[in-house]
Amino acid sequence: MNREKLYEKVREIFESQGFRFREAEDGFRAEKGEDSLKLKIFSSENSGIEEIQEKITDEDTVFVDEALSDAENVLDTDVSVLKSEKEGSYDVPSYERIGDIVVVSELVNQDEEEAVEAILEHNPGIDSVLLKEDQVSGEFRIGGYRNLYGDKTETVHREHGCRIKVDPTEMFFSEREGTERKRAFESVDEGDEVLVMFAGAAPFPVTIAVNADPERVVGVEKNPEAVRYARENVELNDVEDEVEIIQGDVAEVCPELGEFDRVLTPSPTHALQFLEEAIECTAAGGLLTVYSIQEKESPYENVESTVQEKSGDSGFEILDERIVSDFSPSKRKVAVDARRKT
Ligand SMILES: C[S@@+](CC[C@H](N)C(=O)[O-])C[C@H]1O[C@@H](n2cnc3c(N)ncnc32)[C@H](O)[C@@H]1O
Repeated sequence: MNREKLYEKVREIFESQGFRFREAEDGFRAEKGEDSLKLKIFSSENSGIEEIQEKITDEDTVFVDEALSDAENVLDTDVSVLKSEKEGSYDVPSYERIGDIVVVSELVNQDEEEAVEAILEHNPGIDSVLLKEDQVSGEFRIGGYRNLYGDKTETVHREHGCRIKVDPTEMFFSEREGTERKRAFESVDEGDEVLVMFAGAAPFPVTIAVNADPERVVGVEKNPEAVRYARENVELNDVEDEVEIIQGDVAEVCPELGEFDRVLTPSPTHALQFLEEAIECTAAGGLLTVYSIQEKESPYENVESTVQEKSGDSGFEILDERIVSDFSPSKRKVAVDARRKT
């Protein structure tokens, strides 16, 4: 939704409840009697989740549009997501923008041409619009896509000062994981040796190498196409001296790699299956992040107990647990950070 439209919607919400709505130096205010609410309003037209995270404080009431709905799960503050009924003359479907490609997750009762027109209006100059027709599935976690506009499927996504070349029809990639990648590189200490299992096109290895100061980063990935892009991304970002991409199955490759200070398992559908390998690669005092899909009612118990069980009980101390995103109405993608005891 464009910025002005979003501001108008928020204004309507407050004015209908008798608040006075006004622009302030650091955002907006809604005031009624003694109540004064600090509002921050972010449109996907000009903001990303990372930027929102940097700009808000605990005191803010945050509003975003539909395309930024992940903010609800990522931010600690309460976030309201406003849906657009009409944008210009057409509905804008929910979508993810990867470089110069827009990926529409689904079209519900919506004409394809109208959807494309609405997307182009808000993303001028993009190369393609892809409709996800089959959900991400299989070992390589790839969806089924159809071009609604343009014929390109390869693009370069910019994130955290890096360029990540991807083709979503050939490998998994989600720009929505950008916040989690930031957490990852912020948790890497100078001189750390880092292992990224399930590396895909190497967004985690590359953003870590560029934004932190590790001794080395090893990425392991099975999908040969993803490995080809991963190696290209290492070159594209000039991190050949720090990053090595190994093609193969983590079950076979990881046991030969030795121990690392930092181990990441960014594949929530596989991480628990290969937890023994991840644990084996985590040095004493090292930090392991386990991603997983869990029931929203009990998101962490299963991960915690599996980590303790596979590490011979109390081998790890849990440092942090968080919801990364919604996976389905009843399931959540979660992350658990655990430190191996010395
Ligand atoms: C959900 S994707 C994540 C990719 C990447 N980490 C990212 O965030 O873009 C999971 C990746 O794990 C890879 N994979 C699945 N099973 C694997 C295995 N046994 N060994 C190595 N890679 C595997 C898939 O090919 C896929 O690229």
